[in-house]
Amino acid sequence: MKHLIDIKSISKEEIENIINLAKEFKTGRKKSDVEKKTLSLMFYENSTRTRCSFEIAAQKLGMNIINFDANHSSLSKGESLKDTIENLYFLGVDAVVIRHSLSGIINNVMRLVKYPIHFVNGGDGTHAHPSQALLDYYTMLEKIGSVEGKKITIVGDVSHSRVAKSNISLLSKFGADIHLCAPTYLQFENEQAFNIHYHNEVKEAIDGSNVVMVLRVQNERHEKEGYPDSSEYKRLYEIDTELLRKYAAKDVILMHPGPANRNIEVSSELLDNQVGKTILEQAQNGVYVRMAILNTLLKGDNNAS
Ligand code: CP
Repeated sequence: MKHLIDIKSISKEEIENIINLAKEFKTGRKKSDVEKKTLSLMFYENSTRTRCSFEIAAQKLGMNIINFDANHSSLSKGESLKDTIENLYFLGVDAVVIRHSLSGIINNVMRLVKYPIHFVNGGDGTHAHPSQALLDYYTMLEKIGSVEGKKITIVGDVSHSRVAKSNISLLSKFGADIHLCAPTYLQFENEQAFNIHYHNEVKEAIDGSNVVMVLRVQNERHEKEGYPDSSEYKRLYEIDTELLRKYAAKDVILMHPGPANRNIEVSSELLDNQVGKTILEQAQNGVYVRMAILNTLLKGDNNAS
């Protein structure tokens, strides 16, 4: 494994290896194999969790970190992303984590770059967010042991969500019973995916669910600003304590990739109680999963620049 671009490009075995390594990092049994290697964080879109947890993961691994300032780089003078990354490689950077609003841009630039720098997708447009899906999977395994045959319901703006797409890709590999719930205009329909169930109605979608993953409405990716109407969305799709108690499985796990919009897709009360704490544990697990990703990609490797 040299890059992490999307979930469909990695095998079940590679996923299991990352999860097992993340467990070892979390328990402190595993030491870094990538000390003194250099990581550049290239975030062209805002981020709290992904950026900070990659930075903390790299620190814990004893790596050097370059926080590339996209707004003050020579890209503004017309330098291409390919040339920027090739220069970073010759400066001694071993790997880049890129977040960008354009879907597929990381695949494109990776094909153009001629030197063996490692690429990690930190979220590209509506395409993929593989490290998020891996940390979500890690958290599910920690809480429910296995996802095989478990009802996992994703509620929200599925069509614009790279998190949903990466989770669908990963959970399909491990035999989960996947349910997607959204108003029709936010629904993602993939005719190729046979084990997915589609819902408009939230009570039916979460009925008996072992995991309910809530997504934010991604207004910044909508063509029509202000649509959908947030009060209408809240009325039909907000997840709260009462809904989970009445319809979901008894020990349901509530997940959210963040950032959460309180009292729109999920109630503030639910976020602040014991059930909502899993969302913070997801963020925490992100550090160990990202340590495992960086260690896997960079182990035994030499920047020969
Ligand atoms: N889940 C996630 O990608 O959060 P950030 O946008 O804060 O990185």
